[in-house]
Amino acid sequence: MDDLENLTKDQAEAELARLARLIAAANSAYHGADAPEISDADYDALKRRNAAIEARFPALKRADSPSERVGAPVSDGFAKVRHARPMLSLENAFDDADVADFDERVRSFLGHSGPLSYTAEPKIDGLSLALRYENGKLVQAATRGDGEVGENVTENARTIADIPQTLTGAPAVVEVRGEVYMAHADFAALNLRQAAAGEKTFANPRNAAAGSLRQLDAKITAARPLRFFAYTWGELSEPLGATQDASINRMKSLGFQVNPLTVLCHTPADLLTHYRTIEAQRATLGYDIDGVVYKVNDLALQARLGFRSTTPRWAVAHKFPAELAWTRLLAIDIQVGRTGALSPVARLQPVTVGGVVVSNATLHNEDYIAGRDSKGQPIRDGKDIRLGDWVQVYRAGDVIPKIADVDLAQRPTGATPYQMPHICPECASPAPRAEGDAVRRCTGGLICPAQGVERLKHFVSRGAFDIEGLGAKQIEMFFADAILPIKTPADIFTLASRDADNPLQKLKNREGFGETSTAKLFAAIEARRTIGLDRLIFALGIRHVGETSASLLARHYGTWANFVAHATDLADLTAIDGVGETLAESLIAAFTNPAERAAIDALVAHLTITPIAAASNDSPVAGKTVVFTGTLERMTRAEAKARAEALGAKVAGSVSAKTDILIAGPGAGSKAKEAAKLGILTIDEDAWLAMIGA
Ligand code: IVH
Repeated sequence: MDDLENLTKDQAEAELARLARLIAAANSAYHGADAPEISDADYDALKRRNAAIEARFPALKRADSPSERVGAPVSDGFAKVRHARPMLSLENAFDDADVADFDERVRSFLGHSGPLSYTAEPKIDGLSLALRYENGKLVQAATRGDGEVGENVTENARTIADIPQTLTGAPAVVEVRGEVYMAHADFAALNLRQAAAGEKTFANPRNAAAGSLRQLDAKITAARPLRFFAYTWGELSEPLGATQDASINRMKSLGFQVNPLTVLCHTPADLLTHYRTIEAQRATLGYDIDGVVYKVNDLALQARLGFRSTTPRWAVAHKFPAELAWTRLLAIDIQVGRTGALSPVARLQPVTVGGVVVSNATLHNEDYIAGRDSKGQPIRDGKDIRLGDWVQVYRAGDVIPKIADVDLAQRPTGATPYQMPHICPECASPAPRAEGDAVRRCTGGLICPAQGVERLKHFVSRGAFDIEGLGAKQIEMFFADAILPIKTPADIFTLASRDADNPLQKLKNREGFGETSTAKLFAAIEARRTIGLDRLIFALGIRHVGETSASLLARHYGTWANFVAHATDLADLTAIDGVGETLAESLIAAFTNPAERAAIDALVAHLTITPIAAASNDSPVAGKTVVFTGTLERMTRAEAKARAEALGAKVAGSVSAKTDILIAGPGAGSKAKEAAKLGILTIDEDAWLAMIGA
């Protein structure tokens, strides 16, 4: 910047014009193609230079000055926000019987036979957003993310007219949650503008809403016609009401848009009637909806019903039937997954289904292609799928398209039943189908490139090592790289030193890399040399070991050394509550396979593994084994069990020496006697509720 002192007015003017052009080009490369053309540091330098010149020559500031653009510097991404309460999803119902089941489950969980009211409202097809207000001021807006951690999009949310900046008469802390969406007319106009400006158009209003909200530059969001409906809440310092509908009305009076088609229903039949009413209006609403959400109205009952791991027991989304389209099946490709499973994928003549172009569909496995489900029952009336078939595809929500039907009248002459390959198409190892397994699996293990690359993708994924700048795309590149390859997890941790040892072709000189991004990548890898035991176990990608079981194993064994010492001990593993034989055998198979074991050891040599403390659940019944017997009067069995489990207790069906507490209601018989004999603490339902603080 030393030349700045000597700039003449003319030079300054020309320089500001040049900077405006460069910064605008960098912005549009970033936003349009998702591929920044210059590094963050260079971008920042341009912006600083622009600001410095403007400070010296305020009169020369341009109307389109880049310093007027608000928001974080591009490519910094959004800050992460941990939700005060998780943002959950909804269980789906697809037909009237599913709705009746929902009502039935709610009643039986609550042991409730009297009248029960539900709200019914459209399910808006947008993206959910949590708005946090403290002392009446909007302080944070966060996207759902993975439900636990979302993205901080506060500045963008402030540009949405439907979102109040301040609330009057609201509780000190209110988190209003709802859906950001784009109306059909606004979507069509936006796409016209985008096309006229030579910018990318959106496939549907939902994508347009998501793309518009998740802009790093809030000015772009401000120019997009986004709307918001409030329909639920997160953390509250005091309740908004005693019922769902009262709370919705309260949000409305606080200044939020709530959906006008929300009604209170008193029977499951009412729910279905309202569903049909909304379905009939669907095409004329002016915005996309994909179903009707039913929620138990009484919030005290909602609280008793509680949550499963990712969905509330008190709500269900009754989806509209999936959209369908006919097209040609061009080919069946086989993909080999992380655990070696061979998955057939249909390549289709591209066709629009519900506003989205579909060119692939999942075919699951050979039984599915042959027209049988996992129990051997016919699907698609038993019709198999052959190359060249005329097939009907459907999309339900966000799921990968599937094949609903085959038109046998259009089947090409000479088409033969599809044969799954018996060898892996990637490494030619045998791919047998084991007894009880729905899929064929490649037996190549680490020698199979497809398994290798998928395992690495899993290794760097979010719940695992989560290495910034090393995602699926980069893994594919490094996996195929001749100079700086990553073939196994251990290779990730030698990347920087191998690069340093190679004077000829440094990573930083490559296309797509630069000084800054290479340094960032190495730093991100370095930062993950220290890793929690739970993440490490999950990252290994062992079949049947998901995030939950990895964390269970980590909490049980505490340290890597202890885990490894027991990872081949079937009896020890299966003694852990929540670890079954399938999982244990899969772990043993991985740890006794010499090649796998060598790869694991090579990785671990690069790591510092942080031990995991045993579950720090402060509930008084955490870790206790409890048994319920006799009649419970204040809750149903299902409810009692769910609550005990939520507090970290194990609920067993019979009394044994392992039992810690027996909760005995009236009519308790043999179990109470057995407990007395074994000297087990026996209490009644009220004492139990007092114990758990209910
Ligand atoms: S209630 C605890 N109500 O659907 C769950 N969700 O599939 C609270 N959604 O993530 C959600 N319209 O983004 C609720 N009227 C509505 C909704 C709605 C759309 C979305 C929401 C949620 C997803 C679940």
